[in-house]
Amino acid sequence: PRSARSAAAGDVRVGGVSLTETADRFGTPVYVLDEREVRERCRTYRTAFPEADVVYAAKAFLSRAMLRWVREEGLGLDVCSAGELELAVATGFPPEKIVMHGNAKSPEDLRAALGLGVGRIVVDSDSEITRLAAVVPADGRQKVMVRVVPGIAAGGHAKVRTGTDDQKFGLSITDGSAEHAVARILDQPHLELVGLHCHIGSQIASVQPYVTAVRRVVDLMARIRDQHGVALPQLDIGGGHAIAYRPGEESLNAGVLAGRVRAELEDGCARAGLPVPRLTLEPGRAIVGPAGVAVYRVLAVKRTGEHTFVAVDGGMSDNPRPALYGVRYAPRLVGRPSAVPPRLVTVVGRHCEAGDVLAEDVALPGDVHPGDLLAVPAAGAYHLSMASGYNLVGRPPVVAVSDGTARVLVRRESLDDMSRRDIGL
Ligand code: LLP
Repeated sequence: PRSARSAAAGDVRVGGVSLTETADRFGTPVYVLDEREVRERCRTYRTAFPEADVVYAAKAFLSRAMLRWVREEGLGLDVCSAGELELAVATGFPPEKIVMHGNAKSPEDLRAALGLGVGRIVVDSDSEITRLAAVVPADGRQKVMVRVVPGIAAGGHAKVRTGTDDQKFGLSITDGSAEHAVARILDQPHLELVGLHCHIGSQIASVQPYVTAVRRVVDLMARIRDQHGVALPQLDIGGGHAIAYRPGEESLNAGVLAGRVRAELEDGCARAGLPVPRLTLEPGRAIVGPAGVAVYRVLAVKRTGEHTFVAVDGGMSDNPRPALYGVRYAPRLVGRPSAVPPRLVTVVGRHCEAGDVLAEDVALPGDVHPGDLLAVPAAGAYHLSMASGYNLVGRPPVVAVSDGTARVLVRRESLDDMSRRDIGL
């Protein structure tokens, strides 16, 4: 994070708190979350898009405190399950500022969305229209958007590309499914179509795919106006904005994105004679990713013929991203100075697979040894939220730091937590 500062003794402070002290006090592995940075990132989006609704994608990281921060900063919320939705509403998040997603919403998801009164449900399939229309109360009218697929390949990894026609999300513009879904929804008295949605992928570092997406969706809005006589008032362009995981990597600048998207939207609407729809954005990673640091303790150092393996006390159970997407992190030694020249090492986790690798070919001081602490930047998004119970090591705690104080937001998962659900004999 920006607030991290190297002190002379090799210590690193985040939010005014020493990572070494945090590791000693709360144990390792530990996720450290810089509250001020989260709030600043929310403000960056609000400033870049003052005319838009910015909704935070809860899947990146969800906790009661995080919900409070984003709410206080004026953001809405994107959820994709009854669980995410219920936690949000239970902490006082206004349901009308919540957008519900999902390519396969369960009956419980739809019931929770309707029962708690979410602002918008983003319809993802033809079958969902039928199922949703059947459960909206007779005296109700639910606002919906249609998730459309603009046919764009963008995103940091094949597994997070959602803008192409041949994947599971949304309804294709190219093959006419999007228009068909729009027509069906307009026929439903208890569904109110407020706009179109598209989320083209994740970890996208360039603005061009967003501009192309806006152009294609505005073209579709014009056809909808021609066919049905309705000008849809809203356009949600999803999230997916890239962050830097390692020094030198590119991130997507919210201000640059805002300028280009606004220009395309205004031009496109002027050409088509459409009123400019109200924009929604759904950043997740860009809000919380850079605000988190994962801190591990080194447990073993091993030299093989070709490699030096530095093994830490966490791994693929608290960060599946290297194994899933081939992402490479940049761990660094914290807590002590070292004048020993660096050498290239492979940082591995503690789990029972050779693929449990956090970082390959990273330079660490040659004297790195058991007991040392390694900090992994950009660990705020899709780490805890994707953590698993593999090997029953227990998921790490989340510690918020701000103005020199640290407090636990989510405690470490204990064996008791994990064994409680194991009730058969
Ligand atoms: N909106 C929708 C409809 C989404 O599906 C997502 C992410 C977002 C917004 C937020 O995207 P973001 O701004 O965070 O990129 N587990 C993967 C990322 C999966 C993203 C899924 N959808 C990873 O760790 O890279």
